[in-house]
Amino acid sequence: MRIVICGCNGLLGQKLMQAAPSAAEVMGFDLQRQLVSQAGHGYKRLDITDRRALTGTIKAFAPDWIINAAAYNNVDGAESERELCWQINVKAVENLAYACRKAHARLVHVSTDYVFDGKEGPYDEEAVPNPIGFYGRSKLAGENVLRLAGIDFAIARTMVLYGRAQGVRPNFVTWLIARLQAGEGATIVTDQYGNTTLSDELAAGLWAIVAKAKTGILNIAGREIIDRYHFALKIAEIFHLDAGLISPIATAQLVQAAPRPMRSGLVVDKALRELNIELSDVAGGLQKLKKQYGSDLSGSQT
Ligand SMILES: NC(=O)c1ccc[n+]([C@@H]2O[C@H](COP(=O)([O-])OP(=O)(O)OC[C@H]3O[C@@H](n4cnc5c(N)ncnc54)[C@H](OP(=O)(O)O)[C@@H]3O)[C@@H](O)[C@H]2O)c1
Repeated sequence: MRIVICGCNGLLGQKLMQAAPSAAEVMGFDLQRQLVSQAGHGYKRLDITDRRALTGTIKAFAPDWIINAAAYNNVDGAESERELCWQINVKAVENLAYACRKAHARLVHVSTDYVFDGKEGPYDEEAVPNPIGFYGRSKLAGENVLRLAGIDFAIARTMVLYGRAQGVRPNFVTWLIARLQAGEGATIVTDQYGNTTLSDELAAGLWAIVAKAKTGILNIAGREIIDRYHFALKIAEIFHLDAGLISPIATAQLVQAAPRPMRSGLVVDKALRELNIELSDVAGGLQKLKKQYGSDLSGSQT
């Protein structure tokens, strides 16, 4: 089996590269000069918004599957960098669909709870999307491209992804731990709810989609829903850091470019039932992270 992983140097991409089935021939694409992960797979520096380069490379490699972990992820930045965001989250997905049609490959794509407005979460796979910011709109447009593309595809929706990887941007967990370790305070919102997702578990879920040749939408996220402030307190507790440095704040008191889905969350029953994977609760995911790396999460810093 041949598999392409787009965005292989990102947080999820590195976990996918590391957890690839040993029988698979894997080629990663990303924007950097070199492959970050030491998993011993092939790598090509390739911008997936470049349709011609992508199609030519896919044709030559002839993959059975493409997994797309590349994205424009900056929720606030998307409000002002609309064209860049659209190119990566929509146009590149069109390119991938085109390449999949040509190569008869299947596509696994990753989306987000930001396709919802966050008024009545948690959301199952049948819930009707209604994004409230440009990032969410672009991710929904990427999903819709696939619905109409005439290829076999699966979409995994996830949220609040965390974990440790080499040279990636800090995520909520690594950012907070670094702050608390430095003795710096952190002000965290009390009114944004959702699942928190260990990147290793999402990668395992995507590999299960491939193994079982699943199609359609699947929510893959941690099994518990929590507000961000209590998530922060749990991080401090599990990593033995000073919870007194964490202060609560309401989202309305922050100045943010993009609106947030407040009562969000993803119902993960379908993934648990159909993929036979482990999706931890909040404490369980953090314990796994701690067991893997101790308190040294510095690989996450750029
Ligand atoms: N992070 C979250 O909390 C979260 C929540 C919900 C859903 N998701 C989804 O989960 C997926 C993985 O997220 P992540 O946190 O692992 O992202 P990430 O760490 O930002 O990784 C994305 C990777 O894709 C690369 N990339 C960007 N544009 C590209 C292009 N045009 N061609 C090739 N590679 C490109 C990035 O390179 P650069 O770093 O150089 O840009 C980066 O290495 C995304 O679909 C995201 O929307 C994430």
